[in-house]
Amino acid sequence: MLFRRSCTYNVEQSTRHYAKSSVTLCNLGVGATFGESILHDLPRDSTVVTKTTCELLRVEQQDFRLIWEKNKELMNDIITNCKIKNGFGPGVQPAAATSPTKRPLSPDHPNPALPITETPSPAMNRMGWALRTLLVVDNSSCLKDRKVSGKLIRKCAPGTELVDWLVNLAPIVHTRAQAAGMWQALLEEGVLTHVNKEQPFKDKCFLYRFRLDEEGGAPAAGIPAADDLSAANEHIREALSALFQRGPDATLRMILRKPSHERTPEELELVFEELVHIAALSHLSTSIKRELSSIIVFEAHAQAGTILFNQGDEGRSWYILLKGSVDVVIHGKGTVATLKTGDDFGKLALINDAPRAATIVLKENNCHLLRVDKEHFNRILRDVEANTLRLQEHGKDVLVLERVAKQRGQHSAFKYTVMSGTPNKMLEHLLETRLGQSVSGMDPFLDDFLLTHIVFMPVVQLVDELANYFHCDAHEEAQTPEDREYIINFKKRVIQFMQKWVMAVRHAAFEEPSVCDFIEDLAAEVEADADLNEETSIIHNVLTQMARYQEDRNQNAGQKWKLPTNGQPICLFSGNATPSKTVIRPDDDIIFRVYCADHTYCTLRFPMHTTAELIKACAADKLQLNRGPDDLCLVEVKSNGERAVFKDNDVSIPTGLTLNGRLFVSVKDHLDALTPLPEQECPTEGVDIDLEILSTKELAYHITIFEWDLFWAVHEYELLYHTFGRHHFGKITANLDVFLRRFNEVQYWIVTELVSTPSLSKRVGLVRKFIKLAAYCKEYQNLNAFFAIVMGLSNMAVTRLHQTWEKIPSKFRKIFQEFEALIDPSRNHRAYRVFVGKLQPPLIPFMPLLLKDMTFAHEGNKTSLDGLVNFEKMHMMAQTMRTIRFCRSRSLGLEPPSPKSEGEVRSYISSFRVIDNQRVLTAMSQKVEPTRKLN
Ligand code: CMP
Repeated sequence: MLFRRSCTYNVEQSTRHYAKSSVTLCNLGVGATFGESILHDLPRDSTVVTKTTCELLRVEQQDFRLIWEKNKELMNDIITNCKIKNGFGPGVQPAAATSPTKRPLSPDHPNPALPITETPSPAMNRMGWALRTLLVVDNSSCLKDRKVSGKLIRKCAPGTELVDWLVNLAPIVHTRAQAAGMWQALLEEGVLTHVNKEQPFKDKCFLYRFRLDEEGGAPAAGIPAADDLSAANEHIREALSALFQRGPDATLRMILRKPSHERTPEELELVFEELVHIAALSHLSTSIKRELSSIIVFEAHAQAGTILFNQGDEGRSWYILLKGSVDVVIHGKGTVATLKTGDDFGKLALINDAPRAATIVLKENNCHLLRVDKEHFNRILRDVEANTLRLQEHGKDVLVLERVAKQRGQHSAFKYTVMSGTPNKMLEHLLETRLGQSVSGMDPFLDDFLLTHIVFMPVVQLVDELANYFHCDAHEEAQTPEDREYIINFKKRVIQFMQKWVMAVRHAAFEEPSVCDFIEDLAAEVEADADLNEETSIIHNVLTQMARYQEDRNQNAGQKWKLPTNGQPICLFSGNATPSKTVIRPDDDIIFRVYCADHTYCTLRFPMHTTAELIKACAADKLQLNRGPDDLCLVEVKSNGERAVFKDNDVSIPTGLTLNGRLFVSVKDHLDALTPLPEQECPTEGVDIDLEILSTKELAYHITIFEWDLFWAVHEYELLYHTFGRHHFGKITANLDVFLRRFNEVQYWIVTELVSTPSLSKRVGLVRKFIKLAAYCKEYQNLNAFFAIVMGLSNMAVTRLHQTWEKIPSKFRKIFQEFEALIDPSRNHRAYRVFVGKLQPPLIPFMPLLLKDMTFAHEGNKTSLDGLVNFEKMHMMAQTMRTIRFCRSRSLGLEPPSPKSEGEVRSYISSFRVIDNQRVLTAMSQKVEPTRKLN
């Protein structure tokens, strides 16, 4: 057995006297193997002649046998396909012959010696008949019985003689190559065949026969009947013209069915010229098309209904339809698209290393395709593929993918990312490409989807779709083993999806009863299906988390909150053993006041998710306003007198108020009469403490612990509710509201403390303390408080205190300047983004900036583009939501600065006494440091 390294050979079949009449069967190039007959002790059936200087690797018979014994399975292909690979084997059966419905998975090696149709078309048959009839009359010695290798072959003619005759016969034929092309056109339909079915038509001494002679359909001998002769004469002009037209295409197809090493430079040029006109390749450069010329393969399928490949199969090739049409069929959907001449398909699986997204079924007989196999696709095309891929169903775009720009350090297996799509198609694409065992390397598509689907696909709809996928076998009675494998794989993906879902959104996944029902359903199915054994532990894990959530819910049922006149809502009752880290839930009750114009009020208790409409009606009733709901509105009156009217369908109203804001119910026409309560301007509640005696580090520590708990309670979804408007979802944003409220509380606390300290020296001491406090918060990575403190110190009412600032040591002023530079909003908060980008969790981010990013993504991008979900927008939003996840990915675990952690400090920092009216603050600032009069 020989392995060729660098040379070319001729493999020749000799008649008994080799020197006289040898026939070159094929040329072998680098990489070809030959001589496999030693395995079965057969005599060599051809002679191998070197064409150039050669280097070979040789394996002796006994060694080869030994290797074979040990590696039969691996070597089977080498042995059985050796001839085919070398271009002169028995050939591959057409797809439909091996399996009536399914094409074998391994890439074919099309053989140019075989016909591309099952039976010749009547027109070609007739052309063949006419040519044969005239040939017999013109040159009776051309078509005759000949002996080849001792075997008698009836009525055959050498290629050269057939070409001679045709060139003489037809004035339109000017070259021998044209004539050979015409004979090849007959050969590819099976009207003419090589005697051993091993050669395409060649202008050489290979022998060919007419199908008529093979089948015995021609007159045994002699001159054709006069009628036949005149019919043939009548038909020949038309036949020659048709064949003349077909010749070049047939030649091209023949070249495209040859192995690449057999294509001559002239042939490659012909292929290249053809590729230039193919629309599916139009985006590719000339050099790439040249590369393709040597490896692109022609493939023909005779039978409509042949399955080219199945959904779920491994992707092996990319196709371009040259002739005919194919149906794109998807499990549970049927035919979603029909692709026509010029369309291409099968790229998706290759590019994303994912299973086939659809089954491709031939719609017509005699479809012609061009095929690029995976290894070549990856080498030549994968990195130069078009920027956008669009998938259609029923004539409409359903998924738009775009090439991912390669980023340094990023190793995603996926070259294409989803830009937009219908919710269902995106889910389908997700299940097929981002879940399952074969998935290696992850891009954020799955996580983006899990974090944002509530915007475009409500939970109930998502569960419905997943249930459909999981039960996709419900209506299929007879399943082939392949179908079963596909279905089981899909079920596994649904289970994995549930696991990832729960991991990504935690308890929010269980809030919808339909999700819990579905999980229980899945668990029962997994238990009952042996094929899903491996998924048992996954579904049990999900069940455990669900049980934990339900237990926690039961324990905390009836959780109650009170909205105080300042500070954060206070938890009055919680089943939670540690009262910190208490999440505000939609059905928790909250106690709050609603005022009317004369400042009388009623106290209400409602679940957090209660709508403004209901609160309004109930408050109006209690306050005896005696007006219909349409005349009334629920409104916040802020401490500066501003009014903000709530929409009737708004929820989580009490937590949404500004710091010293109060809720009023008012007749719509009398909104102007609403004034703030005196306590809104000058709050009286709150702990009175001499700040000077508190340790600054202790303060920073307790502020951080307190805010960590508030931050921890915020769910990523609340950012979406906040950005799109909670009334869209009917979901509360109470935890986020509270956290944002805290930011303002700290900021105004700083200002309030400074402007209400009449003593200059005490003010100086306070400014120093607050700068130190900011420094400690920064050290504890509580950037939210850090920003609030620095912004408080930069408030106009504070910066104008020149006497105070003059007395601040330059060391402190310098630190403060650095802090101001860090909160500088220019270039989209670049300084802060760079700083925070280097931090490791745990950290508390500057939440208003995250909300700004969400709003920016929302307002700058439409949610829907031409009826498709703009998934790029979802990706942008998910990135911000992931920041929150990252910040909390490690628990806080700060060391208390002193062993006796002071309860007094904790209660002080949890409810500051704050003035949030800028006018009042500026007036107070004026009072402690009146503006200097210029002389
Ligand atoms: P691939 O997943 O490799 O194999 C099936 C091919 O069908 C797929 O690539 C696409 O090229 C093609 N196709 C066309 N329309 C659709 C569609 N709506 N959904 C999925 N695949 C489609």
